[in-house]
Amino acid sequence: MPIVINGAEHPLPDDNRVSLLDLLRERIGLTGTKMGCNQGACGACTVIVDGTRVLSCLTLAVQMDGCAVRTIEDLASEDGPLHPLQHAFIEHDGFQCGYCTPGQICSAIAMVEELQRGDPSYVTVDLVVGPKGVMRQEIRERMSGNLCRCGAHNGIVEAIEDMLSGEAA
Ligand code: FES
Repeated sequence: MPIVINGAEHPLPDDNRVSLLDLLRERIGLTGTKMGCNQGACGACTVIVDGTRVLSCLTLAVQMDGCAVRTIEDLASEDGPLHPLQHAFIEHDGFQCGYCTPGQICSAIAMVEELQRGDPSYVTVDLVVGPKGVMRQEIRERMSGNLCRCGAHNGIVEAIEDMLSGEAA
């Protein structure tokens, strides 16, 4: 089966060792997804696979057989409106150099679905009630796999809070 990337079908690579990150960047030309550490520590390469966030540097492309992959390029077209979270990142200075931003945004979008499903995190106090109430704490914990070396984490959390509250444009 092919791999569906941003709605378009692509054949799996002929080499089983190709990572999803390399497939996206080097073979398909979707360079919005960034390579930071290339060992699963920084989150810069985060993409969304069937609604779940995935580190594309640690994922073999052949594992994506039949899956739907969504990258930052799918969130807004060049001429179209930005995704509400992209607006919120601008409003709250959620970036400086911008290198980690595609991964931060993909991660946050899938993270919101985790919250809405009621998936617990390490800081969820009441597993019966689920992740409600202390949302800032939940966001910080759930986004802790996405590092920003410029130190824009406060703005990133505020932007995600805006999206969650529906305030983002
Ligand atoms: Fe994948 Fe850093 S490049 S986690």
